[in-house]
Amino acid sequence: MRIRYFIKRFFFHLKNENILVVFKKILKTIFESNKINLDQLHVDENISLDDLFIKFGSDKGSLDGKKTYSYIKLKDKNKFSNYLEWINRANLKDFDYQLGHNFTPVYEKYFSKIRFKKLKILEIGSANGHAVASFFYYFKNSKIFTIDIKKSFNFFYRSKRIFFETVDCMNDLKVDKFLNKHGGFDIIIDDSDHTHPTFVNNIKNFYPALNPGGFYFLEDFKYADQDLLTIRNYNEKFGRKIMMQFTITMDEIFRNIENKKLFDHSILKKPILNYIFEKTEQVHVHYGEHPLSSLGILKKKDN
Ligand SMILES: C[S@@+](CC[C@H](N)C(=O)[O-])C[C@H]1O[C@@H](n2cnc3c(N)ncnc32)[C@H](O)[C@@H]1O
Repeated sequence: MRIRYFIKRFFFHLKNENILVVFKKILKTIFESNKINLDQLHVDENISLDDLFIKFGSDKGSLDGKKTYSYIKLKDKNKFSNYLEWINRANLKDFDYQLGHNFTPVYEKYFSKIRFKKLKILEIGSANGHAVASFFYYFKNSKIFTIDIKKSFNFFYRSKRIFFETVDCMNDLKVDKFLNKHGGFDIIIDDSDHTHPTFVNNIKNFYPALNPGGFYFLEDFKYADQDLLTIRNYNEKFGRKIMMQFTITMDEIFRNIENKKLFDHSILKKPILNYIFEKTEQVHVHYGEHPLSSLGILKKKDN
């Protein structure tokens, strides 16, 4: 049946469009039909945000469901035939998990009051969609946009409220095109490659696309800060100057934004820094118990 449908579709489109466009459309249909349709997947109404993170495998929660799934598959590849079977597992707590970053209490602090509003949410760096699927059930009336450098077949889910695009967030032109089409978000979460240049380049490009009153989150910047501090402290101990493009940590950048203090930076130049100073109402930096857990939060003023 399915093959006949694809052949029909192929000839239908071929009449009207060029062959390359037709192939692209068919590939898209094939990959979309393999995705888990969240509009049809039943999840308990009262499930907590933390359990959603564990269920769908994001490391944002107290436990890291994704690592457990990969570990189980490594030991016994027939235990679950696919990811849908894994997310439908009967009792979440029947498994062993390594600890996650446990951002849940911080996210709940910001999200619990607004979770039923009609929001536009963007996650930069979706992986297989672990957090996107979790937010889908937490924010029941919101649209969730997400980008990743990887192609769409790596993204497991589909829904009328989910919009995935393959975009390299370090490609300013592609980001500009994406933001012109979809921009104006109430929540933006940067969970992409966790390096200093990406964090700052994303602030430069995406912070202006955040709506007044919106929240901008940067996850896991501690990796990058620790690397930089190790080299910086070692050189300073011997009175040496560090010859690196970026010599300031994300933590220091947050403090400077909070105090509206200008600093030299080859990506966050004076005009964008002044924009951030003028538009930002609140800066919060959270370090969790997990040794790498770190979350920077910028709240935009209401107008
Ligand atoms: C830590 S994973 C995201 C995890 C996911 N958000 C979750 O909560 O489970 C980081 C993702 O960022 C993506 N990424 C890395 N560099 C990127 C770039 N330049 N542009 C867009 N996505 C990127 C990677 O492909 C990867 O899927």
